[in-house]
Amino acid sequence: MDQPVQTEVWKAQTLEELIEILHRLFAGDKVNVAEVQNVMESYESNPEEWTKYAQFDQFRYTRNLVNEGNGKFNLMLLCWGEGHGSSIHDHMDSHCFMKILQGNLKETLFEWPSKKGGGELLKKSERVLRENQCAYITDSIGLHRVENPSHTETAASLHLYSPPFETCHAFDQRTGHKQKVKMTFYSQFGERTPYAASVSQENN
Ligand SMILES: [Fe+2]
Repeated sequence: MDQPVQTEVWKAQTLEELIEILHRLFAGDKVNVAEVQNVMESYESNPEEWTKYAQFDQFRYTRNLVNEGNGKFNLMLLCWGEGHGSSIHDHMDSHCFMKILQGNLKETLFEWPSKKGGGELLKKSERVLRENQCAYITDSIGLHRVENPSHTETAASLHLYSPPFETCHAFDQRTGHKQKVKMTFYSQFGERTPYAASVSQENN
């Protein structure tokens, strides 16, 4: 029998404190998913602490880098305009944590395309994530699409990817075909990324 994993309970009072705790939790080689999810959930969103990273775009959602996690993870703020959504995508064998800071996000889970011949991606489930909730996904769980279902409210979410990755795959729901896509940051540490480096295709 495996030893039960010790899960410590952390409470992050501020975004700064959350980042400090995350650095500790990712210092070693192993990731305790429940521990990370709990501490991200424990932070009560305070817009005053994160608006400096929040840059919205009229046409699509944006990825804004907040912290590089000492090379172990990337922490970023995603800003979703009304009705904005992602492609159906994978996560390159990384851990992905997604905490809602403002508004609601709908997450739809899909099965991976079948090995023989593709075809329409099967929908597994969908749910609406609410402020302060933290979801988790990795490739063994499946693929997902994330959307701001509101046509009147924007949304913001804090994403942690470990290890960090720069490309992923976007999937066509009808055919199951995938395409490699490069992801870019709209801003980094509160500064707008120069235009040429920030032109994005699809992302996570
Ligand atoms: Fe994702």
